[in-house]
Amino acid sequence: MNPQLLQHTNGTHEGATHNGTAANPDLIAEIMRLKHERNAVLLAHNYQYPEIQDIADFVGDSLGLSQTAASTPADVIVFCGVHFMAETAAILCPEKTVLIPDQEAGCSLAASISIDELREWKASHPDAVVVSYVNTTAEVKVESDYCCTSSNAVQIVESIPPDRTILFLPDIFLGDYVRRMTGRSIHVWPGSCHVHAAIRPNQVTSMRSKHPDADFLIHPECGCVTSCMSFLANGDIDAQHTHILSTEGMIRHSQQSTANSFIVATEVGVLHRMQKANPDREFLPIDEAAICRYMKMITLEKILVSLQEMRYQVTVPEHIAQPARQAIERMLTLV
Ligand code: 13P
Ligand code: SF4
Repeated sequence: MNPQLLQHTNGTHEGATHNGTAANPDLIAEIMRLKHERNAVLLAHNYQYPEIQDIADFVGDSLGLSQTAASTPADVIVFCGVHFMAETAAILCPEKTVLIPDQEAGCSLAASISIDELREWKASHPDAVVVSYVNTTAEVKVESDYCCTSSNAVQIVESIPPDRTILFLPDIFLGDYVRRMTGRSIHVWPGSCHVHAAIRPNQVTSMRSKHPDADFLIHPECGCVTSCMSFLANGDIDAQHTHILSTEGMIRHSQQSTANSFIVATEVGVLHRMQKANPDREFLPIDEAAICRYMKMITLEKILVSLQEMRYQVTVPEHIAQPARQAIERMLTLV
């Protein structure tokens, strides 16, 4: 790779990088040229760095990314997100080349249940229906009846006959949220994500008291979601201004709400699209340190190398992909 392209410059490209420097226009031009040459599409999760979101063909939540991967006519998908997301794209599009710019971009939540742990759990509930959050490995998806994302977990569980026992995995907070929303007796795996579990009820109390008129947006993986639901049920927090949403749901809400300020309880990357679409309104992270180190392993420089060297290819053997696909497709046909 041309080392000059690795330097950030004060070039004329309007986008700034997360470091506050201007994005290198030569680097971006070369990514665009290679993208065209390879007939590649760039898909980015809402937690990616702003400069990556700004050049992506599609930016969205886990559900939107799966749907877009499944329908793209491109030959190559460069997945700017974490490994399980690229793996889901590879499962849905076995005929395409799926690349992840850094293969170390994992997910602490997906790592919180192994295939052996799931098999053992299923053995103790042999008649249960297994609903897995999409933040799981392909092997765990093989042992699952349904996948779900944060935007459709309630809907997926509601589609299951009420007499069936449900095992929900791996996120304890999302599982508890789904249990409360559906009133179903669901067994929940005690996994969590290091970013969201760290968002605690005391941060909510403190931010809400400083910004009483702000809309409060919470991702259902947050460590504060259970207490917020109890406070909502007791009338201790303002239900009208509190919304539990997926990352894309938060962005949609910010476009529709009449509020002037928003407290956002999830990874800070999601603020970029909100602020860009609503420059006159105020978006406040509940915690500036809510940063997913895995999502942030992807950089413009690594995207360029990925396209130049066609690395790192994410593949799933067909004997794993085929049953895993069933669980994902069951979700995609329901939503
Ligand atoms: P979304 O599906 O809401 O984008 O969430 C994905 C994720 O990894 C949350 O941490
Ligand atoms: Fe995984 Fe948490 Fe990062 Fe989302 S924020 S990708 S759940 S580690």
